[in-house]
Parts: sequence; structure tokens; C-alpha cells
Amino acid sequence: MCGIIGVVALPGKTPYRPGVMVYRGLKRLEYRGYDSAGVAAVYHDKIIVVKGKGKIDDLEKKLGLSSVDGLTIIGHTRWATHGAPSDVNAHPHTDCKNEFAVVHNGIIQNFRELKQLLISKGHVFRSDTDTEVVPHLVEELYKTTGDVYQAFKQAIKMIKGSYALILISVHEPDKIFFAKKDSPLIIGLAEGFNLLASDIPALLEYTKKIITVRDNWIGYITPKEVFIEELDKGVIDWRKYVRIVEWSLEDATKSGYPHFMLKEIHEQPRALKDTFYGIREDVAVAEAVKLLLDAEKIYVTAAGTSYHAGYYYSILSAILARRPIIHFIASEYEVYAPTSSEKDVLIVISQSGETMDSLKALRAFKENGVKVIAVSNVIDSAIPRESDISIYTRAGPEIGVAATKTFTTQTLVLSWLAISHAEALGYLTRNEAEELRDWLGKSSEIASKIIAWNESYALKLSEWFSSRGNAYYLSRGIGVPVAMEGALKMKEISYIHAEAYPAGESKHGPIALVEENYPVLFVIPNHPELEKLILGNIQEMKARGAVIIGIASEDTSLRDQLDYWFKIPTTHWILTPITHTPPLQLLAYHTAVKRGYDPDKPRNLAKTVTVE
Ligand code: M6R
Repeated sequence: MCGIIGVVALPGKTPYRPGVMVYRGLKRLEYRGYDSAGVAAVYHDKIIVVKGKGKIDDLEKKLGLSSVDGLTIIGHTRWATHGAPSDVNAHPHTDCKNEFAVVHNGIIQNFRELKQLLISKGHVFRSDTDTEVVPHLVEELYKTTGDVYQAFKQAIKMIKGSYALILISVHEPDKIFFAKKDSPLIIGLAEGFNLLASDIPALLEYTKKIITVRDNWIGYITPKEVFIEELDKGVIDWRKYVRIVEWSLEDATKSGYPHFMLKEIHEQPRALKDTFYGIREDVAVAEAVKLLLDAEKIYVTAAGTSYHAGYYYSILSAILARRPIIHFIASEYEVYAPTSSEKDVLIVISQSGETMDSLKALRAFKENGVKVIAVSNVIDSAIPRESDISIYTRAGPEIGVAATKTFTTQTLVLSWLAISHAEALGYLTRNEAEELRDWLGKSSEIASKIIAWNESYALKLSEWFSSRGNAYYLSRGIGVPVAMEGALKMKEISYIHAEAYPAGESKHGPIALVEENYPVLFVIPNHPELEKLILGNIQEMKARGAVIIGIASEDTSLRDQLDYWFKIPTTHWILTPITHTPPLQLLAYHTAVKRGYDPDKPRNLAKTVTVE
């Protein structure tokens, strides 16, 4: 949902020229939006803007984004909300006299009223964006305050909506002003320069010392100084909020892989291992189990892939802990929040911790006094910050828009939670729980085998698959969320229409579409009862000419039913999301590449959706 960055530096103190730093940072933020991009610098008492429609690399070649001179530079990569992608709607936006430049991530809800007001005062607008009101508003307020920070602060008080905003001005050339509400923003601290950015990967090359900016914080950075206050509350002692991030630069680069998605699929063994060792030591799990034991109702919510992890958790909880869980898609929170009370618990799952739908759901439930457990991959992000208990996956930064390693690690964490809950309730003995945890401990090694066994098979199958227009992904029980995840991967990056259903449901309508050569993928958990049920569904599909692709264990009884077989080691069914998802990720990846698409930048999508 747009990526923003700013660098303010003393001469000769930066590893590259600030223009190059902003360009490189933007490249690392490109996963947040890629329909247009631009930079602005204060240079010799003027604001210089270079921007346009298109991907960052193309703009670099065409316009030379990184060649912009100056020591105070801001940049933006866009995912359009207000105003179509175009040169003129690309950020940064400036005022009438070109004295202020702004980049923004979020939505200014009252921009129409503000625009009317400013037009009535003679301001001339050039774009269709909501953001452009900000530089004009600051320009207007500067006329009376004569002070950039005061004008910026007054402007922020007049704005309604969500924003991470960065502003530069010719009047204060060595400052970058910022404000934040409901959209992510961090400050990076270095020697002789400081930075601002939407996300950690943009800064990893320059510093690991960061401050996560909180809602309603406003302030500025200079090369040597940071000033932060909370709107209407006073100055913040920001030193208390400085932390060192553990992620390495290597985590934010492709390390020789052609795409981040492929790298991240291959990182799953490492991510699962780190998550397993992390969760084993995490005291938050015991605290979360205590909340679950005391809860009257348990809800779980999330969006997209994280929702599939939540759905998996709800099935596992029903099986192991005999606790039904109300699971719902985060954007539907208005239906469910009124049914909650202070006796309930909500689990919110979000890899980024910033998804607006999930954050809104969390806030709506909190208003009713519900206790919230967050499962996230990003320390200090909004959702964990606003939750009572936070449990983290340790997947490392995920940059490909399609979630991969964060899904499998989420399911590991959630399995651990369900096992511990079931054990505390007495439905699992200590030994039974330990045995299941041991399986989770083996997941890293198993995932590594699965990727090695299936990489070339996925590539081969993608030859045929890439010419298909539709596909069904079917399963039963614990496999259904995995089928849903497989279908989402296929459709979001290869644009093949893929739908998932519980296999038993397919005869109630979906089967009408099946004809000769129609691909139907079956996620076949290693569970004899489920295999028996799935056999009937495979035969229904075969009878209509479907091509059957199965993800099944070495010992499957369904081998002779499958036209294509992703073979995986025989393990416990509890590992189904970890064992069955990587082949589906690989198939989606290779199919997208075969069809000529960039899996890291699927059309119309952004990695972190910070608008409702
Ligand atoms: O950061 P979150 O986990 O909250 O993101 C939720 C979804 O936006 C995300 O999973 C999305 O569906 C991915 N593109 C799936 O690959």
C-alpha cells in the first residue's frame, strides 16, 4: 500500500549519495506498490521532483531517480487508491510555489472538503490524489505561522484518515517532517544521517537501529537529531523506543534467486526451525493458553493467507482441544464484533501486523473488552502493539507479495498453541502432546525434503498447467485450508482462476464446470479416514474427465487414482499445512513464470494492505 522513504544527511557521511540510498530503499519497498514512483529533494533552495508512472527500474532508466542531488531526499512507490496510476498522480506532491513536497501512505478521508477550502483560497491542484491537499494545506498555514513544523502540525490536526506522511521544505532544508496514524512508519538512526521508511527492509543496508513510530506521533529528523511529540500530549523521550533489529541485509535480498518468492519458498526449512526454537522458549504461549482456558468464546480472524492459517487453527482446535472457534475474514468484523464480550478472546493473525482490516477487527473487539492474542512476523507492528499477548513467527522479512514462509510458520505456531491448549484441558496427555511437538520439531527437515523432491516436478507440471484457465483445489478436514491457500497462490500470481472447496461440497454445484482435461488438485492429508472420503471425490471428478493432481504421502492408498503425484514423506497429519503447501507454492510459482508474469509483483496487489 505504497512505500515511503526519506534520508537527511551531512555531506560525506553516507555510504552512497542520498539519491542512491533513496532509490535502493525504494527498490526494497517495491513490494508495497509498484504502479508509479518518484523522489523529491531540497537542492539549492529549490524542490526538485522526479516521478512518473511505471516500475522503479524503468523509471530509473527513463528519468534517473537515483541521480537526484541533495542531502534531504524523500521517495515513494505507489499502489493507487485515489487517482489512477499516472505521471501526475505519482508522488511526491508539491504546493503551488514548489516550497513543500510530500509523500504519503494511507488515505485522507476528508480531502474533498480540504481541497474545496484550498481552491477557494486560490490553490491550484494538479493531480486527482487525496495526498496533494497536504502540501497545499501546509503552504496555506505557513503563511500565518511562518514556521514549517507548526504549519505541518496544524495541517495534521485538520486531516482525517490514515497516514504515514513525510514532508520536506525549502524553508528548513535539513529537516524531514513526519506524522503517523494507522499506516506504518519507522525511523532509522545512523551516524551523520537519519532515515524514515515504511518498513525495515528499506533501511537494513544503512542501519539496524530503529524506532517504530506510534500512532499520533509527529516530529522531524535532521542528520544528527530526532524530535518526536505525541499530538496534544507532549514531547516523547524517543530513546526509550530505540531497538536493534535482528534481520540481516541478506534477508532482504534475492541471494541469487530469480525472485523473492522462490527464495522465500526455499527459506521455509530455516524459517520453521527458527520459529520452532522461538516458540519453545516463548513464555507468551503459556499466557495465551491461560486466556484461552478462561475464554467463553474464542474467535480467530485474519485476511488472505493468514486467514487460511486461522481456519486451520480452528479445525485443529476442534479436533485436539474440542473447542469450536469462530473464524471469520477480518473485513467482516462488523458482523461478529457485536457478538463478543469481555469474557471472550480474539486471535488476530497477520504476518505484517499492519493489515487494516485485521487492525479494525482487533479494535472493534477491544471496545467490547475482548482479550486479544496476536500472531505476527513483525515485532512492534501495529497489531501486536495493540494486543494483550503477542506470539511471533520467525520467518524473517517476506518480500514476495505472495505469502509463503509466513504461512507455514504461522501454522507451526498455531499448532503449538492448539496442542498446549488441548494438553491443559486434559484432552492430550503430556506424552501425546510431546509427540505432536516433536513432529513440529521435525518440520524443518521434512520441508527441506519436500522442496527437494518436488521442485523439478512442479516445473514439469507447470508446462501443462500454464495453459489451463481454471482449476479446483479440493480436500477434506484439516486439508481444506491448505487447498484454499494453494488456490490463492495460483490465482494471485498466475491469474489462472483457481477455487478451493471442501471436496464433499464440490458435488453441490462446482462439479458442473468439470469437463475433459479440467485440473483438479487434491490435498490428501496422511489420514486413512480422509483418504477414504477423498477417494469418492476423486472418482466423481475422474468420471467427468478431470485431470487429477494429488499431493499425497509416499504410502498413499490413492496412488493409482492420480494422474500427477506430488510425493511427500509420510508424516503425522498435523503437519499437513507444512507438508502439502510447498508443492502448491512451487506449482503456482513456476506456472506464473511460464506464463510470463513476475510472481513478486502480481498486478493490482500490494504486500501489505493498509487501507480498508
Ligand atoms: O500481512 P497479513 O498477513 O495481514 O496479510 C494478509 C493478506 O493481505 C495476505 O496474506 C495476502 O492475501 C497475500 N497476498 C497472500 O499471498
